[in-house]
Amino acid sequence: MGRLEGKTVFITGASAGIGEASAREFAKEGSNLILTARRLDRLKGLKEELEKKYPSITVTAVELDVREKKQIDAVIASVPPVDILLNNAGMVLGVEHLQDVEEDEFDQMIATNIKGLVFLTKAVLPSMKERQTGHIINLGSIAGKQAYPGGSIYCATKHAVEAITGSLRHELVDTPIRVSAICPGLVNTEFSTVRFRGDKQKADNVYAGLQPLVAQDIAEIIVFTAGRPPHVNIADMLIFPTNQASATNVARNN
Ligand SMILES: NC(=O)c1ccc[n+]([C@@H]2O[C@H](COP(=O)([O-])OP(=O)(O)OC[C@H]3O[C@@H](n4cnc5c(N)ncnc54)[C@H](OP(=O)(O)O)[C@@H]3O)[C@@H](O)[C@H]2O)c1
Repeated sequence: MGRLEGKTVFITGASAGIGEASAREFAKEGSNLILTARRLDRLKGLKEELEKKYPSITVTAVELDVREKKQIDAVIASVPPVDILLNNAGMVLGVEHLQDVEEDEFDQMIATNIKGLVFLTKAVLPSMKERQTGHIINLGSIAGKQAYPGGSIYCATKHAVEAITGSLRHELVDTPIRVSAICPGLVNTEFSTVRFRGDKQKADNVYAGLQPLVAQDIAEIIVFTAGRPPHVNIADMLIFPTNQASATNVARNN
């Protein structure tokens, strides 16, 4: 029996990109899934696909906006105890310099990337502590390690994820609960389309002339991280495409 078989994995942002790919990888390992995001239709499609392919697992699809603490608490109260929490939901809006950042977009990034992750973590921790088991895996980013122009608020949110992940690891050091950060560079998902507010051409330009990571690349690393023996905690992993060396140093058309 594999280490992840029968585990309950709660994924935020499972309707696209890294979250969706992680759901597929965890399903392959025999984990039971709680898939959450705002686009319930997509989650239902994924649930149907995975239950058909892996009849031994249970997949629950729940609409959840991570900006809403009440929704989070209600969902956590209604599902089985969570063994692995994948705090994946996240987003960026725009590339404006700080002086031009709109307040509502600033609020949205903070509410999704920081507050949502904290609310979810707070909601699952009591049960993890009581059961003396659990793994919290947070999606950080190279933007949480380096700042770049046009990324002030997003970088701030991912630096916050880095700090929260670190503090939590200290706070839980005398427990069996593991806390990990997975920090990708450029991954070709809907992320940039959201950033450019639906402009696919601008989004595609982000990945032009290089081979970016795809969601599957990160999902495999997430599942590898979750699947280590209980005494092994992958604290922090930074993953770039081969032709990226920092937030701003990317070689194109090699
Ligand atoms: N792509 C990259 O280059 C990259 C690099 C480093 C780190 N990351 C991080 O990786 C994570 C996943 O991003 P991705 O690349 O897979 O992007 P994506 O394809 O745009 O997927 C983002 C997911 O987050 C969900 N989401 C957004 N706002 C939400 C909210 N308020 N409540 C619940 N779910 C919400 C979306 O679902 P709904 O819209 O259906 O709610 C979607 O499933 C993010 O934390 C991102 O910051 C991405």
